[in-house]
Amino acid sequence: MTGSAVTVSGLGKTFGRGPAAVSVLSGLSFDLPAGQSLALMGRSGSGKSTLLNILCGLEQADAGTVMLLGENDSTADWPCLRRERIGVVFQEANLMPTLSLLDNVRFRASLAGQPETRCQHWLEVLGIGDLGHRFPDQVSGGQRQRAALAMVFAMAPDLILADEPTGSLDRHTANDVADALFRLQGETGCSLILATHDPELAARCQQTLDLGHRSGG
Ligand SMILES: Nc1ncnc2c1ncn2[C@@H]1O[C@H](COP(=O)(O)OP(=O)(O)OP(=O)(O)O)[C@@H](O)[C@H]1O
Ligand SMILES: [Mg+2]
Repeated sequence: MTGSAVTVSGLGKTFGRGPAAVSVLSGLSFDLPAGQSLALMGRSGSGKSTLLNILCGLEQADAGTVMLLGENDSTADWPCLRRERIGVVFQEANLMPTLSLLDNVRFRASLAGQPETRCQHWLEVLGIGDLGHRFPDQVSGGQRQRAALAMVFAMAPDLILADEPTGSLDRHTANDVADALFRLQGETGCSLILATHDPELAARCQQTLDLGHRSGG
């Protein structure tokens, strides 16, 4: 697709009320052209996960507008968009505990209307091809995180939102996972927003947005 993948204007979010209120993202605006990548940086608590949660519909903003993949509040079928076109990797990998890793990936592919034939391939790309039969509680945190990425790869999304996708990985594995992520992005032309504390990972993105250096951020 052409044009913007994500356009955010005047976004604001406050948690709590009165003296305990915490304001994050006050007046945040940015534009991510389709096919490009953006790294969200900033100190712990600066609002990276909050922004990703607003973009994927888990959190409601108090102010501002969001346009995703050419759709805004008045035109979008948000559930369909999120099911089929937007892949999300959370800070804590969220897998279905009663499904094996491979079945988690198959389930996500089928939800997005994608074939299940390449699901094993994506586990292999992420270095966990031999763990597909295991359940989420039988693998490490980093292996769960890679399975969550395989789920996103298998749905062939137009936009990936990833919250510290290499956060629980050692440097070597993190590099391999980042290679797979950017290779997929390059091959499919999808857009990517990732939150990270890792300057090396951020440097691989075309844009960087530092939420910690914004007033109110
Ligand atoms: N549900 C909530 N209720 C109250 N405060 C919240 C809630 N969610 C987030 N916050 C606060 O909002 C701020 C931003 O949190 P957020 O999780 O977005 O930060 P972050 O940049 O992702 O941090 P980290 O790098 O530690 O993951 C923090 O001060 C946090 O305590
Ligand atoms: Mg976070």
